[in-house]
Amino acid sequence: MTEEAATAKPILVLGGKGKTGSRVVAQLQARGLEVRAASRSSPTRFDWFDESTWPDALAGAGAVYLVDMADQPVEWDPSYSVRAFCRLARASGVGRVVLLQARTNEDAGGKSLTGSEDEVRASGLDWTILRPSWFFQNFDEGILLDGVHEGEIRLPAGDGLEPFIDCADVAAVAVAALTEDGHTGRTYELSGPRLMSFGDAVAAVAGQAGRDIRYVAVSADAYVAELVAQGVPADYARMCADLFGQIREGKGAYLSTGVQDALGRVPRDFADFAKSAGATGVWDA
Ligand SMILES: NC(=O)c1ccc[n+]([C@@H]2O[C@H](COP(=O)([O-])OP(=O)(O)OC[C@H]3O[C@@H](n4cnc5c(N)ncnc54)[C@H](OP(=O)(O)O)[C@@H]3O)[C@@H](O)[C@H]2O)c1
Repeated sequence: MTEEAATAKPILVLGGKGKTGSRVVAQLQARGLEVRAASRSSPTRFDWFDESTWPDALAGAGAVYLVDMADQPVEWDPSYSVRAFCRLARASGVGRVVLLQARTNEDAGGKSLTGSEDEVRASGLDWTILRPSWFFQNFDEGILLDGVHEGEIRLPAGDGLEPFIDCADVAAVAVAALTEDGHTGRTYELSGPRLMSFGDAVAAVAGQAGRDIRYVAVSADAYVAELVAQGVPADYARMCADLFGQIREGKGAYLSTGVQDALGRVPRDFADFAKSAGATGVWDA
């Protein structure tokens, strides 16, 4: 599929209100392209658990930004859902798909996190796969924001290092892959420019928030018990603990060059993110 063909029709963005999806939508719109954001709470409704919502979301689309639920309910099976979705996408005229995954080959919570990649590669669509590290935006839009407000972030990540990345950089690579030639068949591992521990990141957030916020390294079992006590299902809590455990064990402690390879520029640093996020007041007590 050529660049012209890929951008002549609407581009479907799944998870269009999420941390990367919202930025993919904004960046595509800034290029003057027609975008259709879809998720359970969007005007165009899309639910991975309700296949009756899929045809309307796909109707007339030429390309798809595919955000799945690989790290969500443990019972969700990407090999079934992503295969069925890609088959329907192809039948309805989609030519190009950009899949968001994570930079891991390990199981978590007893579940493979790479099943969607296999399905997309075998789909017959022009594909690009994005495998980013942990997002900056977990601190101001995601699962760590409550901990920032409480002044304590408790995770089983030890002192492990991770090259956190800005979701805007992930989105920029997605937009390039959705709209430009030269990215088909590429698997981009994406990271920020610097290895940091959660302690380093929390200290940077605390510095910009102007108050004391502590990172406390807890055991995996203690973390699971705390989540379960808050009402989180035990199998999902275990999956999260396994993901943080990969950081604790140093499995994410390397830089990747996908942003440079796809965009020809360096990714944004966490310090720059923390400064601008802090200035919005999102971390104020
Ligand atoms: N967070 C990270 O640090 C990180 C790092 C690397 C990779 N990833 C990957 O990024 C992907 C997204 O994770 P995220 O944490 O960044 O979440 P997110 O994109 O910020 O939010 C999830 C999105 O999915 C939608 N959604 C939830 N359940 C759905 C369903 N049943 N059907 C359709 N849409 C649904 C939600 O919108 P509605 O509520 O409107 O449906 C929301 O827009 C995951 O595959 C994850 O593995 C995340």
